Amino acid sequence: MRALVLNAETRTAELQYVSLPVQAPNELLVKVEAISLNPIDPLYVLHPLASSGRKIGSDFAGLVVDVGASVPNSAHFKKGVRIAGFLQGACSVNERAGAFSEFLTVPWDLVWIIPNGVSTNEAASVSLVALTAAQAIWYRLQLKAPFHYEPKLALEEHPEWNQGNAFNEQDPKVVNFFIYGASTSVGLYAAQMVRLTAKASGMTIRLFGAASKARWEMLRAQPYAYDYLVDYRDTNWSEQVKKLADDSEIHYAYDCIAEGDTVQRIASTLTRGGKSAIVRSREGGTWKADDLSVEPIYGAVWEGLGEEVQYQGFTVKQSPAARGFSVAFYEWLSVAMGLELKPTPVRLMPGGLEKVVEDGFQLLGAGGMKDRKAKRPEEWMRPVSAEKLVYRV
Ligand SMILES: NC(=O)c1ccc[n+]([C@@H]2O[C@H](COP(=O)([O-])OP(=O)(O)OC[C@H]3O[C@@H](n4cnc5c(N)ncnc54)[C@H](OP(=O)(O)O)[C@@H]3O)[C@@H](O)[C@H]2O)c1
Repeated sequence: MRALVLNAETRTAELQYVSLPVQAPNELLVKVEAISLNPIDPLYVLHPLASSGRKIGSDFAGLVVDVGASVPNSAHFKKGVRIAGFLQGACSVNERAGAFSEFLTVPWDLVWIIPNGVSTNEAASVSLVALTAAQAIWYRLQLKAPFHYEPKLALEEHPEWNQGNAFNEQDPKVVNFFIYGASTSVGLYAAQMVRLTAKASGMTIRLFGAASKARWEMLRAQPYAYDYLVDYRDTNWSEQVKKLADDSEIHYAYDCIAEGDTVQRIASTLTRGGKSAIVRSREGGTWKADDLSVEPIYGAVWEGLGEEVQYQGFTVKQSPAARGFSVAFYEWLSVAMGLELKPTPVRLMPGGLEKVVEDGFQLLGAGGMKDRKAKRPEEWMRPVSAEKLVYRV
């Protein structure tokens, strides 16, 4: 089969013929039909952690072609069922295969069945970013989720997440939630999840966002329904948020960028006992903040795969609680995707696997927002804004 394979020496990925993967008893063999790109895919090709020869890439959607012997019948997987999920790709030291290939294998309980009404291209764009947002809102910040899982297990592994106030149904009456980078793919799911929390808990939540003005109309509409928006390009965006929220009354914040001074400035908008989550770690060096009263909660989405992950100079421990959360979340997505949670816009890129590095990776740069400098005249090479890049395989 054809696969995009890392060349760590030249810091690129090449299309090669490799052997077909063989599924373990608890896995599905999948024929990949579409993939979507995440900033971490080019990041770890340009700054490799893995050795040459690893299949790269995370998000996929496709068809089940074979079912492992120990996959329960009750899970309803059979040949031809449409599923979506993500793999870790070359984003770690650990030897694991990525998704940018014609076939792959994946544990049966870490995928979701694509409901009718959601296209395969849309489905390919969901799994990694939606789980990232779900982990932040429901698992790490511990807001009420619209499905059942065991929040206590998470707190046993991370007692520090319980510090500060847990703002709940009664107190305060209105909760203010601020999403910085509201037009990122992660942010688009986070806003929907905050809205679902309000519905599931009865809380009144006012949603504040920072995004470029060009995206305000979209963000004010359903399913995001932001109450207040500021432009991240305004130098005083954090002061504007504080003013809109009656001077420092943000209870929860999610920084979907975490570069430069965003973490520090978001902390300045938080009320006493307020909590924040972030998408990039302190160790990654994209942001610095010296005088934070509460450390923001960082987590890597990989934790949800339930395996130990060595990356970015530190190790993400194996977490049964995080894996359990992913399983519950994907089970819910098999029903809720398209109904309760809407897929975000997709840009279908021309070409297939052979164009991913040449076009898609150029658009995403080296992972950081400031590194996105592609200036090409083709219509599909315009900057990425509130959308996912999808390729057919
Ligand atoms: N921790 C994890 O496990 C994890 C998982 C997934 C992603 N991430 C990280 O999360 C970040 C977001 O990923 P993504 O895939 O959601 O990104 P994305 O959709 O590709 O982000 C593009 C959007 O970012 C907005 N943007 C660019 N610079 C900004 C700034 N300075 N302030 C506010 N918004 C800005 C742009 O808005 P405009 O077009 O309006 O200018 C654009 O809509 C990335 O750094 C990614 O590596 C982390």
